[in-house]
Amino acid sequence: AWFGRVRVNREEGRRWDLELVSPCKINLFLRIIRKREDGYHELASMFQAISLHDDLLFDVLPDDAEGDQLECEDPNVPLDRNNLVLKAIDVFRKRTGRTEKFRVKLNKRVPVQAGLGGGSANAATALWGVNQLCGKIATNEELADYGAEIGSDISFFFSLGTAYCTGRGEKLENVSELMPTSLYIIKPKEGLSTGEVFKNLDIASIEDRDPLKLKEKLEQESIYTAEFVNDLEVPSFKLCPKLADIKQASEEAGFKVVLMSGSGTSFFCLGEPHRDFVEIFEERMKELFNVDIYQTRFLNRKDADHWYLQS
Ligand code: C5P
Repeated sequence: AWFGRVRVNREEGRRWDLELVSPCKINLFLRIIRKREDGYHELASMFQAISLHDDLLFDVLPDDAEGDQLECEDPNVPLDRNNLVLKAIDVFRKRTGRTEKFRVKLNKRVPVQAGLGGGSANAATALWGVNQLCGKIATNEELADYGAEIGSDISFFFSLGTAYCTGRGEKLENVSELMPTSLYIIKPKEGLSTGEVFKNLDIASIEDRDPLKLKEKLEQESIYTAEFVNDLEVPSFKLCPKLADIKQASEEAGFKVVLMSGSGTSFFCLGEPHRDFVEIFEERMKELFNVDIYQTRFLNRKDADHWYLQS
């Protein structure tokens, strides 16, 4: 868990009881294996944590407080009980029997409906944070299990930074860390809902590639010679045709790898663009496609240890 770093920034002239970072993820590959009886899809994916993050600030409320309070200035974030932070706190109380209530402030930077797991990361951070504030009564494994009750890719955020995830995404196996890599995230204004993308997926038309081979390649070869595939690109591109143009333009700029993350709509780009493209790439992409661009990097075990130990 990397969100263990307690930040020392001061807001409104005072410290919160707990101030955490909430980093997001990309999927270095994402294979959909089959549709299950329960409606979910069995998948196999290499998840990688990246440094792009939100902040979550926590106060424990007095005993007589009526309920939790959530603040977020981003109008795209729902503040009702559908918010994954509030769902996480509810599940934590249900599973542990605790009764504390919390005030939480979410400073949102990770774009929503982007396939970056921003909401899932916030839920994981909230589970970890309220557990700290209640005297660390649950282990990280238990917190990951609580997370699986809320959403498929919350458990990943209790890994060490790079993990091979299976099941509906909630079963994780830590793998050795990959080469430190900086990357660009490209996010068009349009977003897609994960459920909607899965509904448009035609399982029969997917090329069957062995996910264990993809995993092996990533672990044993350079990140640039591995195979990058996301089975959700086809349905996402169908729902938002502009995505295919963004991918093509980014590839033409010279990146070694351009792949959609999760169910989209963001792409990650590895490697540098052509030299004569470096300066104009951002400007051109913004002009042509109205995208936001973030420069970020892989998080690894050192980040996890460092942030964890400080908490
Ligand atoms: O689990 P989560 O709430 O994040 O998933 C959102 C939606 O995406 C689910 O309701 C389901 O329709 C779809 N999904 C799926 N298979 C998965 C993960 C998500 O079909 N492995």
